[in-house]
Amino acid sequence: MKQLETLVAAAEAAVDAASDEAALEALRVRYFGKKGEITALLKTLGKLPDAERREAGQAINAARDQVQARWDARRQALVAAQLAEQLAAETIDVTLPGRRGDCGGLHPHTRTMLRIETIFRNAGYAVAAGPEIESDYYNFEALNIPAHHPARAMHDTFYLAERGSAASGDAAEADPRALGQLLRTHTSPVQARVMEATQPPIRIICPGKVYRVDSDVTHTPMFHQVEGLVVDRDISMADLKGTVIEFLRVFFEADLAVRFRPSYFPFTEPSAEVDVECVHCRGDGCRVCSHTGWLEVMGCGMVHPNVLEMSGIDPETYTGFAFGFGPDRLSMLYYGVDDLRLFYENDLRFLAQLR
Ligand code: PHE
Repeated sequence: MKQLETLVAAAEAAVDAASDEAALEALRVRYFGKKGEITALLKTLGKLPDAERREAGQAINAARDQVQARWDARRQALVAAQLAEQLAAETIDVTLPGRRGDCGGLHPHTRTMLRIETIFRNAGYAVAAGPEIESDYYNFEALNIPAHHPARAMHDTFYLAERGSAASGDAAEADPRALGQLLRTHTSPVQARVMEATQPPIRIICPGKVYRVDSDVTHTPMFHQVEGLVVDRDISMADLKGTVIEFLRVFFEADLAVRFRPSYFPFTEPSAEVDVECVHCRGDGCRVCSHTGWLEVMGCGMVHPNVLEMSGIDPETYTGFAFGFGPDRLSMLYYGVDDLRLFYENDLRFLAQLR
């Protein structure tokens, strides 16, 4: 009996100290296995005298049940601890925001173009388009800029050579200017195309790409323009001024001062250049406006009678106004970006800010 008590105490202590299932299994073998210590004790029962066997059997069985219960409890505790540990390791914070896929956005210049279109559509204008590869006729002639007109010098034009012309060997034919194909230097040729195809009333804008042989900090060889054209009876300079002032007010979402300076374009008469109060310093003078307080934003004027006539519209019955501006520059001013090149470098860190 004394030996049994010691055995139970040792077994219980060992079971309590078992730190994993492998250790527990070893203890099971050690005490309850075929050659286990408790099993061995049970085997001795047969050798005992009949008088002692009953009592000893009860005591050993009780001891076995006691150790077995301890063993079961320990096993349960280990399983529970392991499960708790696993749950803690695999915990997911379901309140975290999900990971989203990267999503592109419209280029700031595109957004500006779309805003401009919306502003003019709301005022009843249609949006017209014309070809970027244009003829000398529409880009210049039809706009009252004949060959050798000094105004052509202001347009650093990309001329296109016709296929096979170099092989012909004919000097006059090889001169791309003689062939009359070029990349349009402004959107004004669309004026002539629309007037040729439509009788007044005409109310259109033409947003599009234009090209000039120019590349430095403030110029890219391709840039954008938006042309505006209104032709109807009794259209006056007052209509032009009202339209331009209202457009700039809506575009910049601010009541900025606007001034018209007399200027010259072959296709408008009178002509003007439009300055808007500097959006950056509000007229005080700063780096953005070269300390003048003003930003030059567009050219405009009353459509020249020659231009109306060449496109088949009677200048005695109709008058019109036209304007042209660079939305890229308006984009820079609107978004407060001071380097034109940023728009074309495709640096996502820049573009994502204006998305
Ligand atoms: N086409 C002119 C330019 O590119 C701008 C302009 C358009 C001026 C319409 C007057 C009228 O500079």
